Amino acid sequence: MSEVKMIRIEDAAEYVGRVVKIGVWLRQKRGGGKIAFLQLRDGTGFMQGVVSATDVDEATFKLAEHLKQETSLYVTGTIHADSRSEFGYEMAVSEIEIVGESENYPISPKEHGTDFLFDERHLYLRHQKPYATLKIRDELIRAIYDFFHEDGFLKLDAPIITDSAPEGTTELFPVDYFGKEAYLSQTGQLYAEAGAMAFGKVYDFGPTFRAEKSSTRRHLTEFWMIDAEMAWMHQEQSLEVQERFIAYLIQRVIDNCRVELKMLGRDIEKLASYTKLPYPRVSYDDAVKLLQDNGFKIDWGVDFGSPEETFLANHFTSPFFVVNFPKAVKAFYMKRHPTRDDVVISADLMAPEGYGEIIGGSERDTDYDYLKQRLIDQHLDLNEYSWYLDLRKYGTVPHSGFGLGLERLIRFVAGEDHIRETIPFPRTLNRLHP
Ligand code: 4AD
Repeated sequence: MSEVKMIRIEDAAEYVGRVVKIGVWLRQKRGGGKIAFLQLRDGTGFMQGVVSATDVDEATFKLAEHLKQETSLYVTGTIHADSRSEFGYEMAVSEIEIVGESENYPISPKEHGTDFLFDERHLYLRHQKPYATLKIRDELIRAIYDFFHEDGFLKLDAPIITDSAPEGTTELFPVDYFGKEAYLSQTGQLYAEAGAMAFGKVYDFGPTFRAEKSSTRRHLTEFWMIDAEMAWMHQEQSLEVQERFIAYLIQRVIDNCRVELKMLGRDIEKLASYTKLPYPRVSYDDAVKLLQDNGFKIDWGVDFGSPEETFLANHFTSPFFVVNFPKAVKAFYMKRHPTRDDVVISADLMAPEGYGEIIGGSERDTDYDYLKQRLIDQHLDLNEYSWYLDLRKYGTVPHSGFGLGLERLIRFVAGEDHIRETIPFPRTLNRLHP
């Protein structure tokens, strides 16, 4: 007899009616009497294996009955289409071969608290919710590369160890760099600006770090950011790139992760409505008025806190930009407003359904003397930014850019309550392990 073909669960559709072998882990087991239902997974999908006492020898049936959660095994059997199963196929199992035993697996099928699940994250990764969320993460990462490639951007990697702190000095992770103080990067933006002057349109994509002392559903201390920077582009054109980008990413997930969205209970129709452009532009001034009219005690000039952000994000029914924030709460590099001294040409893209900010961006000021003064005003060391000021000295041009937080985007697209679900091994104020 020829060797039985080894397949992956995701390819089951091609093997209906045939005998195949799959390497799997046992998620759960049900049954009794003369039948055992094995809930199996192999990392590419999920499938039920049916072991019937009338079809297998006694030893195999006994083995099936005594399998423990997360035992790894080879199962051999015939693939059947099964319209009742949420995954579409099942296997009539004829042979079982145990590969790795599993005793007292800690994440039993009962409900567990989130803290416990994240203490066991190295195992929790195997479960259905992380499976769906991290598949969506993978799709989004690929879609991000595709969008920029198709749109004529060059990928320019920014360093992770740096001596600059463009987003303020209060949330830095210091690194001892051979006796000199350095930091883990908060954003690759300044390097992307240098890249835009060399290649026109560039992006970076990598881990960034903020020593956030607050624990919220939106903050990680290590997260992945995409910085995009476009030479010869003013803010309105940048907003058009941003909304096209987000609509593209959402559509890719709808097209390629329908099963995962359903597993997470995400409303796909609602998600699809967010691909409709343009997104509304709301001024910071109007956003503050709206908040005040709704009972918030916020003064003009203050940045939004979590409750304000959540309110605004629940008020609008599509993603929307809040534009022209007060200069005093924004980074030194943002472009001055042509007629007002108190605001800058900035925009935050907010996701609806309470999710809040997913992108921060602005047009960049192009004037050497102005930027030098802003650095001095913000007590930043001019020596560390001299190379950045050079960009204004040698052929400065209008340019704009933005930073998208990958985990914020995933939280919104996957409909996750908490950002820790969106990254394999989250780093937060209280979590460094595993
Ligand atoms: O708004 P931010 O601070 O902007 C910048 O860093 C700019 N230099 C980006 C640029 O223009 N190239 O951060 C950008 C995005 C936020 O909108 C948010 O999505 C994400 O980064 N982000 C965080 N995500 C998770 N945890 C945190 N602590 C985050 N801080 C920012």
